[in-house]
Amino acid sequence: MRYGFIGCGNMGGAVARALSRSTKDIVVSDRSGKAKNLARELEIGYGTNEELAESCDVLFLCVKPHMMAGMLQPLQPILARRKPVLVTMAAALTLAQIEEMAGCRLPVVRIMPNTPTAVGCGVIPYCCNDLVDQTMLELWLKDMAPCGLLDPLEETLIDAASALSGSGPAYLYVMLEALADGAVACGIPRAKAMSYAAMTMAGAAQMYLQTGQHPGALKDAVCSPGGSTIVGLRALEQRAFRAAVSDCVIATYNKNKEMGK
Ligand SMILES: NC(=O)c1ccc[n+]([C@@H]2O[C@H](COP(=O)([O-])OP(=O)(O)OC[C@H]3O[C@@H](n4cnc5c(N)ncnc54)[C@H](OP(=O)(O)O)[C@@H]3O)[C@@H](O)[C@H]2O)c1
Repeated sequence: MRYGFIGCGNMGGAVARALSRSTKDIVVSDRSGKAKNLARELEIGYGTNEELAESCDVLFLCVKPHMMAGMLQPLQPILARRKPVLVTMAAALTLAQIEEMAGCRLPVVRIMPNTPTAVGCGVIPYCCNDLVDQTMLELWLKDMAPCGLLDPLEETLIDAASALSGSGPAYLYVMLEALADGAVACGIPRAKAMSYAAMTMAGAAQMYLQTGQHPGALKDAVCSPGGSTIVGLRALEQRAFRAAVSDCVIATYNKNKEMGK
């Protein structure tokens, strides 16, 4: 299958980078020509939006949501004739809205990727319209495997998933920096503090993923009675850490829904 990426910024570039580990049959386009550097680095092609629409079986639409209609409008005659599969990653644009902007009925997949996709550790919930063929979907999932976790999710839950896994990396980077700041205040050099914090976050996530134990049980295993970790946890809870984190996800979800209106 030949893949095209219309728009190749932060997110399009992350998916193209991961996909290029499966196949080099990829062409990217943008407006400024910046994506030429990525194309050179990944040893993939560069072309115009029209060239991509004419030649690709699967077209990733990686422009900002408010630019989608304007980008698709001139491609409508080609899309109506060729009916490639469109893969949209635009926050808050539905499958039906993408079909409407494309100007015809054609297969559409909606994904909600996150930036760790670039290093093969992404989370990508997806949903499809009724024109996506099962054989094509399986081929696409196989090629997308280097991105990380691809998981089917009903469309009504995509905004909620976006608030967790789409935006989540930003929240975790703040946590990483804050953990390191604490350690620097206790005398650890900055570079060591950052790498210990990052490995601790990755290690804790792996413990959960590999053992399947409840996070509460894993937490209890770190907290010795009368020890220091339980005192640290109390300091977090005094500042309403759990409420702050879950309110953060809910606020993001509400904003996603508002943007979709
Ligand atoms: N960033 C995230 O974490 C994230 C997560 C989930 C979903 N998304 C979604 O991913 C999409 C892209 O977001 P982003 O963060 O990657 O944005 P970005 O870094 O600003 O990239 C947008 C890209 O679109 C290109 N572009 C704009 N208009 C175009 C046109 N008419 N023809 C061809 N290329 C065009 C831009 O090219 P120039 O630079 O040349 O203008 C740029 O390469 C958005 O819809 C967003 O909702 C992002």
